[in-house]
This record gives sequence, structure tokens and C-alpha cells, in this order.
Amino acid sequence: MEHSDEYYINCEDLFKIYKIADLEVVALRGLDLKVRPGELMAIVGASGSGKSTLLNILAGLDQPSAGRAYVGGRDLLLMNDGDMVEYRRKHVGFIWQQTGRNLIPYLDAVQNVEVPMVLNGVAAADARERATELLTAVRMDHRMHNHPNQMSGGEQQRVSIAVALANNPPLLLADEPTGELDSFGADMVYEIFTDLNRDFGVTIVIVTHDPEIAARVDRVVAIRDGRTSTEIHRRTEFDGGTPTVHHDEYVLVDAAGRLQIPREMLERLGINERARVIPSDGAVEVLPEERRKRSK
Ligand SMILES: Nc1ncnc2c1ncn2[C@@H]1O[C@H](COP(=O)(O)OP(=O)(O)O)[C@@H](O)[C@H]1O
Ligand SMILES: [Mg+2]
Repeated sequence: MEHSDEYYINCEDLFKIYKIADLEVVALRGLDLKVRPGELMAIVGASGSGKSTLLNILAGLDQPSAGRAYVGGRDLLLMNDGDMVEYRRKHVGFIWQQTGRNLIPYLDAVQNVEVPMVLNGVAAADARERATELLTAVRMDHRMHNHPNQMSGGEQQRVSIAVALANNPPLLLADEPTGELDSFGADMVYEIFTDLNRDFGVTIVIVTHDPEIAARVDRVVAIRDGRTSTEIHRRTEFDGGTPTVHHDEYVLVDAAGRLQIPREMLERLGINERARVIPSDGAVEVLPEERRKRSK
């Protein structure tokens, strides 16, 4: 697979295997994911399904074991340590669930936003100007000189978003950014992601447990057991001027033609181990095995 400009993120058949002593944990098993430039999308899945593993790989915090992973034309499997440092500093912004992990407690909001720029060699006056702009974009300009312990969790996450965008990365990754927030704080964080995506064209990938997420983003991809399984698209139709939002659900088909049928559906149909696949008019039927009477 070559990199193509059509996708900002392009993962194919991605594997991540953690080895602890003699034990192997397969966290990603042949995962495919494509994200277009300027998309606002979310990844959902049960705990342990591989969401954080995927996000850490996309953030350049960890390396995959096998497969293909391109972000903005960079091959993540070929990056050396120096490339990874450069990538993390300029090309991707990351937001952790734990508010305390994103901010330096003894610095105020504007100083926190300046840190990544100063590390990147930006002059102090320019850093201050950009930090002020970013804090305005996350609606925290009235709290520029507050320290993290003087802010609510939601306010800290908004400052964290400004910190993540300090060096103007085209990609923002957030691992359960609203996991520790009340619904008001979470709503504000989602509104800011929507603004940043619309106004600055930042590509945004949010990992979440929030079942309401489909209403907030263009597309939701579900991960099961280290693979992407289904996705939901948001589509707005205008019926005589009134916008109506529709959600279309799809099962993903990988490069080898495999698709995952949700377990509940298989159980309802009584399918296990093998099924009959029969072409019918413009469709394919998936049926349980025929149960024949055993001949004597
Ligand atoms: N550093 C690690 N070492 C060993 N196993 C890990 C490590 N990180 C994650 N895992 C395992 O990989 C699987 C996926 O974990 P994770 O990506 O954190 O899932 P999620 O974020 O969806 O809850 C889990 O079985 C988890 O225990
Ligand atoms: Mg996680």
C-alpha cells in the first residue's frame, strides 16, 4: 500500500503485540482505519478493545508490531527515535483523559500553552500572542492567569486542547477527553472540537465511551477485539429547507473481504463456526448451516 493524499490517516492490517515475560497480549489484530483530512470522528469500544493502543501509535508514543500505518504521508513503522520526537512536537496534538496529565500545575493557563512553543524555539512575544489566540479559541481567555487547581475539570481540558494545538499540528488526538467531566463540561469540550474542526480544518480523532457521541461527530468507528468492526455515518438531508439528521450504520469490510457480523445477530440467527452465504438479487444472504437429519 502506498500513501495516498485521500486519507490523512491510513492504517491497514495493523498489529500490536505486547510481550510481558512469556505472555503475549495481542492488542491490535489486523486493524484497518482510514481518516480523511479535516474529518471529525470518534472511536468507541469496550474497555480493553485496543483504543488507547491505536491512539498511542497514531500519536507516535508507541510503535506498531506489524502492518501499515501512515499519518500525513509519514510511515509510522519507519520512523526512528529522532523522527518520533519531531513528529510528536509539530505534527500531532494529544489530550489525555486525566486532566492532571495534560497541564503543569505550577504554571498558569497562558504559560502552559507557551511551553510547547518555547521548546520549539518560538520567540517569547510570538508565543504569548499565539497562546492568547488559542485560549480565546477554547473560550478560556478570561482565565489566562489561573492555575489548573483554580479551574474545573472541563476548563482544564479546554486549556489542554490549547496546549495540544500550540505548535499548530494538523491532527488532534484525544483519549477519553471527557471521561472525568460532568455533562456540562463534556458538552463544552465537544463544542470546542467542533469549532476547531470547522474554523481551522484540524483533523480530530476522539476515543470515547460516551454513547451520545454519534450526534457530535461526522463518523463513529467501533473497535472490537483489536479490529474495526462497524461504523456510523451522520448525514444531514434537507427536506424543504428543514435539516434532518440521519445515522447510517455499516459493517466494515477489510482488504481481504472479511467482515464482522455482530455477535448478537449471529446468536439470534443460530450461526456459529460456519454459515451459508447465498447471492440473491442485489444482496447476499447469510444463513445458518442447514440442519440435516443424521442418516443411519
Ligand atoms: N503496555 C502494555 N503492556 C501490556 N499489555 C497492554 C499494554 N497496554 C495495553 N495492554 C493490553 O492491550 C489490550 C488493549 O488495551 P487498550 O488499548 O488500553 O484498550 P482500551 O483503551 O480500548 O481500553 C488490553 O488487553 C490491555 O490489557
Ligand atoms: Mg483506553
